[in-house]
Amino acid sequence: MVYVEAQNLPSHIGIIMDGNGRWAQLRGRERVEGHREGSKAVRRVVRAARRLGIRALTLYAFSEQNWARPDLEVDALMQLLREFLLSERDDILDNGIRLNAIGNLGRLPAVVRTVLDPLRKDSAGHDEMTLTLALSYGGREEIANAARELAREVAAGARSAEDVDEQALHARMPSLAVGDPDLVIRTGGERRISNFLLYGLAYAELHFSDALWPDFAERDLYEAIASFQGRERRFGLVGKAAAPVLTEGEAAADEAAPRSEASATLLRLVG
Ligand code: FPP
Repeated sequence: MVYVEAQNLPSHIGIIMDGNGRWAQLRGRERVEGHREGSKAVRRVVRAARRLGIRALTLYAFSEQNWARPDLEVDALMQLLREFLLSERDDILDNGIRLNAIGNLGRLPAVVRTVLDPLRKDSAGHDEMTLTLALSYGGREEIANAARELAREVAAGARSAEDVDEQALHARMPSLAVGDPDLVIRTGGERRISNFLLYGLAYAELHFSDALWPDFAERDLYEAIASFQGRERRFGLVGKAAAPVLTEGEAAADEAAPRSEASATLLRLVG
């Protein structure tokens, strides 16, 4: 059983979905099979996040650097994206989800753009949850784009160099239009950020899961959120008094205590 507090949900969750290739290789299958299975995990996680009431979910589906993978794999990923957008279109529209995309979208092939663009447009007014796909995305590239925009404004005399501050940069980052990520999850056992949401990561809580992305289940998402809720976010300030550390016996008693009083605020979730 995983307990998640209904009142203290991360507003914006980012996920680095890693491990598709290894999932397939472990089974003696082609890497592409891992991506296909990974698409199913995307569906599961989007549904679970929507049910929980997460306001924004950003998925790192294809990095700017991923174009260097073999053509066959890139083509298969583009095809899977198309299939995902087609098959999820009704669910997205029926559930108040706004589908957005960030990154160098001009590089995406027509097979993706012809389904992505209409869905972005048709879901633009939705506000239950924003699902952002990072496609041909790079965090450094996003920072460079924002800096270039500001440099142009300065060159045109529309802004002074002194007005180039962190808010001006922030306002030019499409990934942060839904707010800074509160929680960033990386699956697949690696502990690195791989050029994801770099600017917005400043105060994000990081959660690393050893699950390979195709194995990532609802329960893993709940565990990541529960771990987020157990942390004290200080944003560079001084923390509250440290919480008392429970002895093993106290912890067991706490675990055994009836949860009825808390049931209004605690969601008991089984993955
Ligand atoms: C990283 O795993 C994953 C990717 C580069 C692509 C992620 C794509 C999907 C989850 C499926 C399609 C996306 C959507 C939104 C439907 P990896 O291949 O680097 O794994 P490895 O580290 O095990 O090799």
